[in-house]
This record gives sequence, C-alpha cells and structure tokens, in this order.
Amino acid sequence: MVTRGAERTFYAPVDAELRELQRRLLGVGDGGHPTFAAAVQHLFGSPGKLLRPTLVFLSARFGPSHDPEVVLNLAQSLELVHTASLVHDDIVDEAELRRNVATVNATWDDDVALIVGDYLFAKAYALAAVLPKPEVIAIVAQTVFALCDGELNEVTASRALPSEGAYFERIELKTASLYAACCQGAALLADAEPEHVAALGAYGTNLGLAFQIMDDVLDIAGDETDFGKTVGRDLAEGMPTLPMIYAVEETDDRTLGVRIVAPGKDAAELRELLRIIRESGGIERARAKARAFHDAAVAALDALPDRPERDALRDIARFVVRRVR
Ligand code: FPP
Ligand code: MG
Repeated sequence: MVTRGAERTFYAPVDAELRELQRRLLGVGDGGHPTFAAAVQHLFGSPGKLLRPTLVFLSARFGPSHDPEVVLNLAQSLELVHTASLVHDDIVDEAELRRNVATVNATWDDDVALIVGDYLFAKAYALAAVLPKPEVIAIVAQTVFALCDGELNEVTASRALPSEGAYFERIELKTASLYAACCQGAALLADAEPEHVAALGAYGTNLGLAFQIMDDVLDIAGDETDFGKTVGRDLAEGMPTLPMIYAVEETDDRTLGVRIVAPGKDAAELRELLRIIRESGGIERARAKARAFHDAAVAALDALPDRPERDALRDIARFVVRRVR
C-alpha cells in the first residue's frame, strides 16, 4: 500500500501502479545537477496525497486498452506539472511550509526554486511528448496554459473582493483543469467510449472545484499540523477566497472586505480577521458549496459502468470534502 495512504481504500485498486510511480518520481533527479537531485529527494521523499495520479490510474480502467507504460507516463507527467506549479507558486506566495516540510524556496532560495520548477516542468513535457495520442499531449499543454492563466489571474487581481463567479473561474483554471486532465486524458489513452471520457472530465472538474474550495476553507479553519501548510496564508497576503467572500456577504460590517484584501497585515489584525471569518457563516457556506460540487462529481459517475474503480472515484470525492489535510 502507498505510503501515508494506507488508511484510504480508494488507493487499493491501483496500488501497484502507485508504487511504481513513486519509484519513478524519486528517480527524476538522477543524472541531473546535484541541487536538482537533492530538491527531487526533498520533494518526493514526502509525497503528497497523490490524488492526481490515482485519478489517472483509476480513469484508465474505463477503456479497453491497457498499456501500463503509457498510463504511467501520463500520471508521472501530470504529477510533475502539479509539483512544478507548486514549487513556483510557493515562490509567488513566499510560502515556507508544504506537506509539513520546508518549501524549496525556504530550503534553498527563490532562484533555485524557480529553476527546479522549470526542470520539473521540462521533465513533465518530455514524458508527455512520447504519449501515443496527440490529443492527450495537447491536453497536458492546455492544462499548463490554464494553470498559468489561473495563477496570473490571482497575482494580477485588483485589491477588491471578487464575485463568487470570478472566484470559480479562477479555481477552475488553477486547480480543476488539472483534475479534469487526469481523468479525461487517461480515459482517452485507454480508448474509453466518448460519453465515458466526457463523464470522467465532468467528474474531474467538479472534484477539482470541491478540492480547491476545501483547501481555501482549511487555510482559514484548518489545523496547521494536519493541513501541513501555514494556516492564514491567503488572508495574510490579502488573497480573497470563497469563505471570505461569503463572510463579507454575511456581515453588516462594511469595512470587512477592505480589511481582508489589505496586504501586509500585522499578526494582531490577522488573528482578529481569522476570528471574524471563522465566526461568520462563511466557512459553513463554503463547505456547503464544496459539497454541491462533490454531488455534481458523483452524479457524473452515473454514466460509468458499475465497478470497483467507480466506487474508488466516489470515495475520493468523499475524502476531498471531508479531508483535514
Ligand atoms: C496553488 O494555489 C497554485 C496552483 C494550483 C497553480 C500554480 C500555477 C503556477 C505557478 C503556474 C506555473 C505552472 C507550471 C507548470 C510551471 P494556492 O496558492 O491557492 O494553494 P496552496 O495553498 O497549496 O499554495
Ligand atoms: Mg500557494
């Protein structure tokens, strides 16, 4: 069973593939610059939840073609895109902690993190380039465009509270696009029926939206050790998220929105704002929205044949809205 995932039954059907993936991820730095090799050990020595590759392996089971090497390449490519984007995002966010370990920028510095991210991204594209279907290679490239668009939306946003719709648009780009790519790309590689490819794409998108909303909830209401990241980071930076948007809607205090988007808050202001948002109905409303996307993800699975992999996808959706990390 995959490290740190032993308690999760949804890993079980694809356990062998996940083990092989972890072995390959740890080898990504082999033969590279010593600093890159060290960064790879640092990053993949404490793997994340590996949800994206799990989605690739499960989704690939819904088609008649089974070339394990091809599916592993897609899973590794998309996990590397994800990791590269996080390494770069941690520079942008000046983050110090991820998965309960120091970030690459905190362990080395921003310059190293920038180049390590580039290196990972190039490795990801090298793996995608040998995939047998041009449409799947295009999906990988489109996903990177989407991640960049989402991140640029975030960093160039005006210091104002976005509408709920603008927030959903941003998280669809920066998070849900990658979840959809995992599910859809794998189904295409496996020659799944077009309606199954579409169902898996819809599942991935809704799952990704639920995941990011929960991430934004945990950034305010989570336990730092469970979450593995510094709590309150979004608020400290003045980066408005769904629970904050709802907290502002729930209050009569007209200053709350301006205080939330203000950059460079001191510790006392941060504590006070966290308290106000936690006590508002914003967290509960955001959790309810995540549950609605969960429901849409699960409903999309109805179009798929009833098999253990479909149960596992359903379990992943449940985990995403119940998770603490
Ligand atoms: C995390 O969001 C960030 C992303 C999901 C996308 C980041 C994308 C880029 C930096 C574009 C570059 C992409 C590549 C492939 C080089 P968050 O800050 O809300 O989540 P967090 O709390 O986990 O940091
Ligand atoms: Mg971040």
